[in-house]
Amino acid sequence: MCGIVGYIGASQAAPILLDGLGKLEYRGYDSAGIAVYDGKKIQVKKAIGRLKVLSELTHDGATMPGTLGVGHTRWATHGAPSDLNAHPHYNKEETIAVVHNGIIENYLKLRKKLTEKGYEFRSETDTEVVAHLLDYYYKGDPLEAITKVMHRVEGSYALGILFREHPDRLYAARKDSPLIVGQGKDGNLIASDVPAVLKYTREVYFIRNEETAVLTTDGIAFYNMDGEEIVKNSTTIEWDLNAAEKGGYEHFMLKEMYEQPKTVQDTLKPRVKENTIEIEELSMTEEEIRSISRIHIVACGSAYHTGITAKYVFEGLARIPVEVDLASEFRYRNPILEEDALVLIVSQSGETADSLAALREAKGRGVKTLGIVNVVGSSIAREADKVMYTWAGPEIAVATTKAYSAQLIAQYLLALKFAQVRGRLTAEETAAMLGDLKKLPGQIEMLLANKERIQKFANRYIAAKDVFFIGRGIDYAISLEGSLKLKEISYIHSEAYAAGELKHGTISLIEEGTLVAAVVTQKDLYKKSMSNIVEVRTRGAFVLAVTNVDNTEMEKAADYVIYIPQTNPYFTNSLAIIPLQLFSYYVSVGKGCDVDKPRNLAKSVTVE
Ligand code: AGP
Repeated sequence: MCGIVGYIGASQAAPILLDGLGKLEYRGYDSAGIAVYDGKKIQVKKAIGRLKVLSELTHDGATMPGTLGVGHTRWATHGAPSDLNAHPHYNKEETIAVVHNGIIENYLKLRKKLTEKGYEFRSETDTEVVAHLLDYYYKGDPLEAITKVMHRVEGSYALGILFREHPDRLYAARKDSPLIVGQGKDGNLIASDVPAVLKYTREVYFIRNEETAVLTTDGIAFYNMDGEEIVKNSTTIEWDLNAAEKGGYEHFMLKEMYEQPKTVQDTLKPRVKENTIEIEELSMTEEEIRSISRIHIVACGSAYHTGITAKYVFEGLARIPVEVDLASEFRYRNPILEEDALVLIVSQSGETADSLAALREAKGRGVKTLGIVNVVGSSIAREADKVMYTWAGPEIAVATTKAYSAQLIAQYLLALKFAQVRGRLTAEETAAMLGDLKKLPGQIEMLLANKERIQKFANRYIAAKDVFFIGRGIDYAISLEGSLKLKEISYIHSEAYAAGELKHGTISLIEEGTLVAAVVTQKDLYKKSMSNIVEVRTRGAFVLAVTNVDNTEMEKAADYVIYIPQTNPYFTNSLAIIPLQLFSYYVSVGKGCDVDKPRNLAKSVTVE
């Protein structure tokens, strides 16, 4: 939930650091700082607020000459956002500077020990402990000092480190927080994520847990926790820079909404050959698939909402019992995990601490784990027994859209595959459903073309105080996501309710003019859902209905209707969510909110 960068090479470091941090602000943006070795000393500049404050402070880096440096953009966990708590952090003599993403869980104990040894702390952060601990262990060999620190600290870290006495080297180390090394033409870089280095290189190394990297202007060496050199292969990144830029849209979120047809296509294509489903990365035998006794889907936020939809799909098609857990609850409820269960961890970033912890809990009990992840090489992707990527490309907006859509597709495919292997679906039935899936990209495109009409409607609700989303079955799952989208980017209070549950209390909140979004796509539940619409309308609600194109009854039942094209009832989430995303987006824009970086949120929540 912070972003770090580092550079060593022939060019001036500060502008490169600032540019890289600009691509990482989605990881956190309450303060930022850079440290640059200027030939004599390590100069540090840092400031509370967005990166542009730091850029202005340093005249876009011009006041910080030097070709070696590290930078940081922060999302506060220990110590409120402030100049002092911003990274980089120094040791006392200012001979060592550190940037850090993650949490040092035993920092209080270490801080106490170091204070007893005479160390003075300037900030409230856990990170500053690392700077002083490096000082404590440093006897002339940075790598030795770093390795000792790695043995002492508990928790997660991606570190970028400068030693004034070694100005020809940039050091990096990693445990649990993402960290990559970029091999450039005129220098080498470290970063928390690929977009920060793409402008300079496509050759990237993914640092694994408890590895360190030592970068010079023209070389990179990797070491394990015992200080032994290790060989690593680089990955060539296919994304072009635009893929991580706005591409002409006003916001990343709008761009990513419009990428959903492609995202769905890209997640489907490699796995559907003619009318059969090939999920190579699954590498499970048919016997193993047949022996799955229960599926546990574990995730957070929107990823969790896809899991609720997937429960209906897996149980409906493959008749496999499914439990869906919030990752932050899973680990602490002492879950009953049968040995032939399968745990699905769904995570766009692949770095969500709660989901990573749940993965480790499942693995620790010897249960098979499958990650459904968007970020190649992320922690969950690497630690799960198997990983199924969602191929959505970089998702920069904090509010997920295209990754959410891709997560749905991945779980539909798994459910279809399992159903087929377990004899629950004939080849013809599977082919028909694959046909429905292949139509989704075009249907999503059609719904996106509807944006003006939705924008007009959204403008009527910019001042709304409470909005309710209701639905039954999969429509309830859609309502959960619709409600979260509205809350997280427009700051309007909203609740999603199982439509049949509203009358057990919450309906007392409905008053004249309250907006209720009713999702009605499950044909077998039409009647019940329509009666729930009547319930709220008689109490004064204004009802926006999202329903199937053939449900003409809705014209009379609701105040405003948005139709979605025909598809299989199991797949309606992929369509109904589109107008709800657009609605939330335009309400947020109308309110002048920061759509891509909503207050208090970060794209990847790497703290529990
Ligand atoms: C989605 O709009 C939210 N920003 C958030 O709920 C997100 O889905 C959740 O934090 C999980 O993130 P992950 O998919 O990267 O694990």
